[in-house]
Amino acid sequence: MKKLIAGNWKMNGSLAANEALVKAMLDGLQGSAPAADMALCVPAPYLAQLQSLLQGSPVAWGAQDVSAHEQGAYTGEVSVAMLKDFGCRYAIVGHSERRQYHGETDALVAAKAQRALAAGVTPIVCVGETLDEREAGQTEAVVKRQLAAVIHAVAHCTSEIVVAYEPVWAIGTGKTATPDMAQQVHAVLRAQLSAATQHPERVHILYGGSMNAANAASLLAQPDIDGGLIGGASLKAADFLQIVAAAR
Ligand code: G3P
Repeated sequence: MKKLIAGNWKMNGSLAANEALVKAMLDGLQGSAPAADMALCVPAPYLAQLQSLLQGSPVAWGAQDVSAHEQGAYTGEVSVAMLKDFGCRYAIVGHSERRQYHGETDALVAAKAQRALAAGVTPIVCVGETLDEREAGQTEAVVKRQLAAVIHAVAHCTSEIVVAYEPVWAIGTGKTATPDMAQQVHAVLRAQLSAATQHPERVHILYGGSMNAANAASLLAQPDIDGGLIGGASLKAADFLQIVAAAR
């Protein structure tokens, strides 16, 4: 299984900046077969632009959230059908920033994952502990609880999800988990997936949280780290491509 390197642009970008970033990324890929599968998860208003820029390229695209509802009076939400209209392959669900700022519960995240999967969009399911939870020795309990809700919802389709372990204390802080720390949690998640599907090896378990060009190789060398979910470093073409190259 090729590793997956996904960028999460968060609420960043503009039409001009996006075009320059994607052009620089595609120029950097010229002629080379990427070492990893690649995806860019962008703010919903830019999905049409990314579809136009990336169509036919080795880079997939996706969204940073998806509604748990099919359609209707859900102001501000974006349905999976709308994501499909713009060729989305992926949708991040349960990012810690949405759990924190929008009160997203494990049950809501599970419903979003199920809705995406049912429509053929791969959910990137984010799990991760806060610093307080880690310091209280609750890391495993938290990530297993978060993943269990999704496994329960998607059941026999568990092998079709992507999981991203994103320790909240490492996101945007420059305080990356050490490879050993990350591998320890990834192994717990792999064991949990093994109990839920006959093919746990098919599930990409990505690491996210200050992964960058300097530390990517040591993280991606870990047996249960199957890629990265990259925030800040995905906004710089050269850095993102160095992370992709480190996936060899
Ligand atoms: O979803 C990925 C993101 O949370 C990681 O952000 O800036 O620490 O790479 P960053």
